[in-house]
Parts: sequence; C-alpha cells; structure tokens
Amino acid sequence: MRLQDKVAVITGGASGIGLAATERFAKEGARVAMLDLQEEIGKQKAEELQAEGYRVTFYQVDVSKEDDVQRTINDIAEVNGTIDILINNAGITKDSMLHKMSGEAFKNVMDVNVNGVFYCTQAAVPYMVKQGKGKIINTSSVSGVYGNVGQTNYAASKAAVVGMTKTWAKELGGKGINVNAVVPGFTESTMVAAVPEKVIEKMVAMVPVKRLGKPEDIANAYLFLASEEADYINGTALHVDGGIMM
Ligand SMILES: NC(=O)c1ccc[n+]([C@@H]2O[C@H](COP(=O)([O-])OP(=O)(O)OC[C@H]3O[C@@H](n4cnc5c(N)ncnc54)[C@H](O)[C@@H]3O)[C@@H](O)[C@H]2O)c1
Repeated sequence: MRLQDKVAVITGGASGIGLAATERFAKEGARVAMLDLQEEIGKQKAEELQAEGYRVTFYQVDVSKEDDVQRTINDIAEVNGTIDILINNAGITKDSMLHKMSGEAFKNVMDVNVNGVFYCTQAAVPYMVKQGKGKIINTSSVSGVYGNVGQTNYAASKAAVVGMTKTWAKELGGKGINVNAVVPGFTESTMVAAVPEKVIEKMVAMVPVKRLGKPEDIANAYLFLASEEADYINGTALHVDGGIMM
C-alpha cells in the first residue's frame, strides 16, 4: 500500500500505459481519477475496478481544452479534498515524413502532448502548493530524446515535456513538489498496435533486452516516482526503454 489514500489524477487512463497505471495505483491504495477522451471504455474500466473494491472514478475530458481541464481538476479536488499526484500520461501520434506533415497534424499533437500537460499541471499545482507536497510525473518518449523518422511533431512534443519537467522541478521543488519525467521506449499498447509487424521486429531488434516494454513496466516507474521512496528525486527523466539507443 505505497499510495494509501493518496489522490491521484491519471490522464489517458482508459487504455494502454494509463490503464495499467490506474490499476496499479488503485491496488496500492490510491483514490484514482482516471481522465480520458474515451467515455465508453473509461466508464467500463472504472466500473470493473470499483466492483473489485478499488476507488477509481472516470472523468471524460479532452486535456487540450483548458477550461474543461480546469473544471475537472477543481471537481476532483473538491470531491477528494486535494490532489497529491498528477500523471500526465495522455498522448497522441500523427506520424508522417516532414515533407508530408500538415500544419494541422503538427498542431494537433502539440495541443495534446504539450498544451495538455501544461493545462493539467497548472490546474493541479495550486492544490499541491496549498498542502506543501505533491508529485508530478510527465510522460516523454525515446522519440523526444533521440528523434525518430516520421515523428517531427511527436518528437518535438516529447522533448518539450522534458523541458517543462526540468523547469517545474526548479520552480516547484522548494514547495515540496517533485516533478519528474518517464521516458518510455517502444511499449505494447494501442499506440504501437497500429505499427506493422515488420517494423515491430526491427524495433525489438534495437532493444538490448529483446522485447517491447509492457504497460506495467512504465506503470511501475510511475509508481516509484509517485511514492515517498522518490522524495529526493526531482527533475529527472527516467528511461524505461530496455536500454535502447536509437
Ligand atoms: N506505446 C509506446 O510505445 C510509447 C512510447 C513512448 C511514450 N509513450 C507515451 O505514453 C503515453 C501513453 O501512451 P500509450 O502507449 O498507453 O497509448 P494509448 O493510445 O494506448 O493511450 C493513450 C490514452 O490517451 C487518451 N487521450 C488521447 N488524447 C487525449 C486527450 N486529448 N484528452 C484526454 N485523453 C486523451 C487516449 O484516449 C488513450 O486512452 C503517451 O503519452 C505516449 O506518447 C508511449
């Protein structure tokens, strides 16, 4: 019970890595607010976990909509008394080579992966400042660190996530708030399910441990950084990527 009675907000919690984190955090005793665009699957997953006795509530929200985010975070804090943990996990890809990438595809990815992280963090931080403690974990990607063919928009957004993480670690560290990033490698999820088999094989070949990551591998890193065991870790970007060097 490493998160007993902690109030955790997990964005993109309805599938993939976010769902694994929702389950893991709930099982560690947290009250989890699962935020996602996908209402049907989100509600269903929350109900399944509630039936098992876990405290999980689904909120339908688009993290790229500032007012909706603010309202949702305020509702969560009102119902639960505060917000202890924010996992900025929601993210999208819209891949194409530079010469084919539309301005709209670039903007859409930035809206969710960068603006969404900014809006959620700005909304949650006042509650953490008020209680003098909190944990914020942002989700970057190996694409943002090494670059990746076809991912100008995504790589830019995930590099921005590391920049925001390090800035907030400096701004908020003195207020008892730890801000860190997790940098996942290629991980089995709906995001990677769309990738052709041959490309997956090539991806696996690049990973020294010779497998893709599992959503639980990333959820474990979120859990560690959200726990008291990580109280002296601030401003780091923790790679959970099987040792890949792209
Ligand atoms: N899967 C990988 O290989 C991989 C690698 C590196 C980083 N990541 C990052 O990990 C995070 C989780 O990705 P995943 O692999 O679990 O993907 P996923 O597609 O399975 O899950 C992402 C979730 O975010 C939600 N979402 C998307 N846009 C949203 C919005 N505007 N508002 C609210 N929710 C929204 C989706 O509905 C979905 O449930 C993302 O930030 C992703 O960029 C994934």
